Amino acid sequence: RILTQDELKKIAAYKAVEFVESGMVLGLGTGSTAKHAIDRIGELLRQGKLANIIGIPTSTQTHEQALSLGIPLSDLDTNPVLDLAIDGADEVDPDMNLVKGRGGSLLREKMIEGCCKKFVVIVDESKLVDYVGGSGLAMPVEIVPFCWKFTAQKLQSLFEEAGCVAKLRISPENGKAYVTDNGNFIIDLYFKKDIGDLKAAGDAILRLAGVVEHGMFIDMATTLIVAGEMGVRVRNK
Ligand code: A5P
Repeated sequence: RILTQDELKKIAAYKAVEFVESGMVLGLGTGSTAKHAIDRIGELLRQGKLANIIGIPTSTQTHEQALSLGIPLSDLDTNPVLDLAIDGADEVDPDMNLVKGRGGSLLREKMIEGCCKKFVVIVDESKLVDYVGGSGLAMPVEIVPFCWKFTAQKLQSLFEEAGCVAKLRISPENGKAYVTDNGNFIIDLYFKKDIGDLKAAGDAILRLAGVVEHGMFIDMATTLIVAGEMGVRVRNK
């Protein structure tokens, strides 16, 4: 039987939880893959196989899930150094650079996952790309709502050569601008070509005054777990 994408996500997530040890401060990711990891951590806590875990959630959605599972929670103010974070990604390039935020959460993820001794990324193999933007899907940028059209235009102009199209993310729930956990908007950037030097691209984006953060997680992942039809692979950086 061919495994579903969700089953592959679960396999990658469960593998990542093998890295979790009692007493750890853990970054809890966001999205449909990370959700399986958090469920598993909750289960191991209930069974007494893990103890004294402190979770730092990367979104309000994850906060609620972790609360419902009884996982003790804290934040970066109290716990500025994390042992391990586990999270999904929308794209992973051959150097383990990531695109994140298609689910709407990227700023809190980047703040938290930037403070981890180990950052384990869990994906099914459909997320592997040759270059950032290579899936044809969006690279999200969180921006302040003030004059968002102006910022969107500036972002699009930055990547004119890559055939960039910038679109305001719309919430499917109310047809209005999607609002992040931090009260901001998201501009989705679609590239027709490879944008090349990711660090330079990221720096150029962050120099625009209306930008809060972008969804490229460059050189952050320390371990990648990929689940596919041929099994699960673990790669360390
Ligand atoms: C949330 O906005 C993201 O950064 C997620 O980590 C990413 O979108 C992966 O989500 P899925 O696991 O649902 O594909």
